[in-house]
Amino acid sequence: MDLHDYPDVAQNYDLYLDAMYKEQDNHAGFLDFYLEFAKEYGKDGIIDIACGTGAVLLHLAEHGMIADGTDLSEAMCRVANEKARSRGFDLHIFPANMTDFKSDRKYSCAIIARSGFMHLLTPELQRAALLNIRENLTDGGMLTFNTFDPNPYFQAQQMRTKDTDFTFRLEYVNSQGKREKLYNAITYDPTTQVMSGNWKFETLDAIGNVVDERIRPVKQRQTYRQEMKYLLELCGFAIVNVYGGYHKEPADTVVRNVIWCVRKK
Ligand SMILES: C[S@@+](CC[C@H](N)C(=O)[O-])C[C@H]1O[C@@H](n2cnc3c(N)ncnc32)[C@H](O)[C@@H]1O
Repeated sequence: MDLHDYPDVAQNYDLYLDAMYKEQDNHAGFLDFYLEFAKEYGKDGIIDIACGTGAVLLHLAEHGMIADGTDLSEAMCRVANEKARSRGFDLHIFPANMTDFKSDRKYSCAIIARSGFMHLLTPELQRAALLNIRENLTDGGMLTFNTFDPNPYFQAQQMRTKDTDFTFRLEYVNSQGKREKLYNAITYDPTTQVMSGNWKFETLDAIGNVVDERIRPVKQRQTYRQEMKYLLELCGFAIVNVYGGYHKEPADTVVRNVIWCVRKK
C-alpha cells in the first residue's frame, strides 16, 4: 500500500493539499496549464491518468471539456467519482494501473498531473507505462507529465535522514472537521533513485493534545532528464516541449518541476 491507497488519505487529500499550496507558491498556474493543453490537443478525447481525486478532471469539466480519468487507487477514484457526481458531471473514472490500463477508445491527449509518473519506481515500470499510454493514444496524440529535477543538495540531505525523521509540514482541518498536523520524512537511495518516506498525520483535540496518529508510506523515483530523453525515444515519443514550470518557464537550469510535453511518433 502506498499513500494514496489509504481511504483516509483520499478523503483528506484535497484538504491538506489546499493547505500545502497556500504556503508554497510553486503551484500557481497548475490548472490553467492543463486546461490549455487539453484545449490544444484534446479534440479527439482526453484522459487524465493518475487523476487522484479529480482536480484536473473537474477543472476541465467545469470548462466544458469532458475527460476520462483513471488512477491506481480505488479510494482516490471513489472520491473523484463522488466529487464529479456532486457537481453534476457523469464522468468515466476507473481504477487501473497506468502500466496496463486498456480503454475501449483512443485519446488525442493524455495528462499525468502532479507527479503521478514519479510513482513508477523502476525504469521497467516507467517504460511499461509509456508504451501502454502510447497504445491508448491516437496517432500524433500528445502526453504531458512532470518530473522533479534531481537536486544533489536535497539528495545529500535525504541520504543522511531516515524515513522516520519527521519534519512538520502543515496543519489543516480534516474531512471530519478535526485539526490535524502533518509531518513527513524522506530517505533517498542513490542506487535506485527512489525516495522512500512516510507522512505522519496527528489528529488533535480541541486543546491541541494528540488523540490519534496515522503513518502512511510513500515512494517516488527521481529521473534524470538524460534518462527520460532516451526512455521517451525508446518508447516512441518525440519531445515537443520541456518547461520549467506551469507558466512555461524555460527549463535551462535545474528546476524543481520539469513538465514534459511529448508526441506519439
Ligand atoms: C500526487 S497524486 C496526483 C493526483 C492528481 N493527478 C492531482 O493532480 O491531484 C499521484 C497519484 O498517482 C496515482 N498513481 C500512483 N501510481 C500509479 C500507477 N501505477 N497507475 C495509475 N495511478 C498511479 C496515485 O494513486 C495518486 O492518486
